[in-house]
Amino acid sequence: MDNFNFSPSSFKNIVFFTGAGMSAESGVPTYRGRGGIWNEYKWEEYACESAFRSNPDLVLDFHELRRIEALKGKPHKGHFIINEIEDIIKNTSIITQNIDGMHQRANSKDVLELHGSLWKMRCETEGTIYEDLDNGKYSSRYCDCGNILRPDIIWFQDILKEKVVQNAISMISSCDLFVSIGTSAVVYPAAGFPRLAKDSGAFCIEINPEKTELSQIFDEVIREKASNGLALLKKQITD
Ligand code: APR
Repeated sequence: MDNFNFSPSSFKNIVFFTGAGMSAESGVPTYRGRGGIWNEYKWEEYACESAFRSNPDLVLDFHELRRIEALKGKPHKGHFIINEIEDIIKNTSIITQNIDGMHQRANSKDVLELHGSLWKMRCETEGTIYEDLDNGKYSSRYCDCGNILRPDIIWFQDILKEKVVQNAISMISSCDLFVSIGTSAVVYPAAGFPRLAKDSGAFCIEINPEKTELSQIFDEVIREKASNGLALLKKQITD
């Protein structure tokens, strides 16, 4: 795919909106589709508050496994291309549904984690956050106060943090280019963001090897893996 429907343009405010497909080439499994995590694990048993209440160790073991898998992988070419675009177009930010921290590992600075982070644990009593970026296994499953810690992640049936959503809305409403990469666009409210970008007047591009629920609303669709799609995009917007 070489011919875009837009001319090399002077986009000044870019939002990259990423999902699990962005990390696929880093070796992190997606949630749905072939090899998807939710085909192997029922989220009702591993990724919701009630599962954590009834069997915290099972849920924490599952998240340790996610951390170990994420540590085995590393950022790929696509992550670094976003990084290069950040250097060229200063007003570039990332809104990610991913919890694996891969964008940050590629040195991206302005990353909004909509669904939280695998690398943070939260004490529900004190609100204390413990961060550990280097280890798969938790150094401790308990807060200093003695309470069990839960991953600081938005699980199924959790409500997104209000401030994070407000930040995302404000970033999307003011961008002129919105690039959605590697998300099936079925989980709300995140799946509503491409529509918000479109309604706010941004040029909207989807990078995904597969058609998604929202493909038809994009101005341009790049049917490529994240790394190839981003290479094409970078050439177009920076040439
Ligand atoms: N490059 C780009 N896209 C890819 C690639 C790739 N190399 N490989 C797969 N994809 C696409 C798939 O076609 C699919 O559309 O990535 C998408 C992954 O979709 P999901 O697994 O549903 O991931 P995501 O959309 O991020 O899930 C949203 O659901 O389970 C919850 O909270 C979890 O944040 C997650 C949310």
